Amino acid sequence: MGEAIKPRRTSVAETTTAPADGASAAASAHKKPTLLVGIDLGTSRTALAAGNGLRMCVSTCVGKPKDVVSEKLFGKRLLFGDEALNNRMAVELVRPLGDGVIDTSPKKKEENITAVQALLRHMLSHATSDGQEVIYGVIGMPARASVDNKRLLIDALRDIFDAVMIVSEPFTVAYGLDILTDALVLDIGAGTMDLCRMHGSLPGEDDQVTIDKAGNYVDRTLYALIQKRYPEAQFSINMIKLIKEKHGYVSDKEERIEVQFTVDGRPRMFDITKELKEACLSIVPDLTEAIYKLIGSFDPEFQKRLRGNVVVGGGGSQMIGLAAIIEKSLDELGGGAVRIIDEPVYAGANGALKIAVEMPESFWEHLKD
Ligand SMILES: Nc1ncnc2c1ncn2[C@@H]1O[C@H](COP(=O)(O)OP(=O)(O)OP(=O)(O)O)[C@@H](O)[C@H]1O
Ligand SMILES: [Mg+2]
Repeated sequence: MGEAIKPRRTSVAETTTAPADGASAAASAHKKPTLLVGIDLGTSRTALAAGNGLRMCVSTCVGKPKDVVSEKLFGKRLLFGDEALNNRMAVELVRPLGDGVIDTSPKKKEENITAVQALLRHMLSHATSDGQEVIYGVIGMPARASVDNKRLLIDALRDIFDAVMIVSEPFTVAYGLDILTDALVLDIGAGTMDLCRMHGSLPGEDDQVTIDKAGNYVDRTLYALIQKRYPEAQFSINMIKLIKEKHGYVSDKEERIEVQFTVDGRPRMFDITKELKEACLSIVPDLTEAIYKLIGSFDPEFQKRLRGNVVVGGGGSQMIGLAAIIEKSLDELGGGAVRIIDEPVYAGANGALKIAVEMPESFWEHLKD
């Protein structure tokens, strides 16, 4: 994973700034300008696209300095994203999302909610002018997030946004790319893989699948495989994630993959070619099964169109050879075509912003009067 992407403003041509009718009405009622934002709140990273052209992406984590020394070192109460990750020896690191939703395990729930709020406030502070706008946010969540998860998130957003819309992640990706019909969209993230059939109207429950197995699962599998083969090697799960992001593959490529770990502090090279492929492949059977399910349960007259237009986004889509392996699995259904989207980091946030611009007032949940 690279360094947090710095806030940047795109040209007007790259985005739409005109608010939707509903948002305009709210703005005039408040006598304040409206800022529309699309947010892809991910387990691993959170991307924001704002109607004023700002784009930013940070790792989804918050760090609190551990003691007086670290407070003095950083000179601030909280660290966000990669700054928190890179200083994790000196901070208490909170990763508030697990499997794409706020992790609500009893001991962590409050801490995680506070961390999500702090992270979003931090990101929005780059997009707003001293809180002078009415903020309308569309937020992407796993396709099959439970009603409780959604409610928890909406409650957490209450003091931050004036109105919100929670939408499924693969739907935001599809909408942003104008893929509204005859497509199967897959979003391979860190916590979940989300699939969504697009057929010219809003996708329903039956059109979507969420699998609680994605990039983080690959990391854990790879960690265990390497540890088993090389018990003497010293490495962390974060190092494993970076190795996967650099070399991850599911193809039959011949090239050997060797990485450097230490043994009792001394550097040594280790061949992980086999382990890396096995780990990356570990999420493919569930993905294939979900693809078969969504295509197989679709109107038979339209199944061919779906398998002819499989679109893959999310960080996990970057594994080398993924499109080919999904295409191969489609042979069983009569063949198909798979394409990996060009801009996986912002696809969800861009789509969420587009939804914010285009959806009518009735789709918004108002959080303030
Ligand atoms: N080149 C790459 N090869 C393989 N995996 C990658 C690559 N780049 C990123 N990833 C993985 O993609 C995942 C992050 O993707 P993404 O940002 O779409 O997830 P997320 O939105 O944070 O998670 P989720 O949608 O599950 O909440 C991580 O597991 C990351 O390691
Ligand atoms: Mg995601």
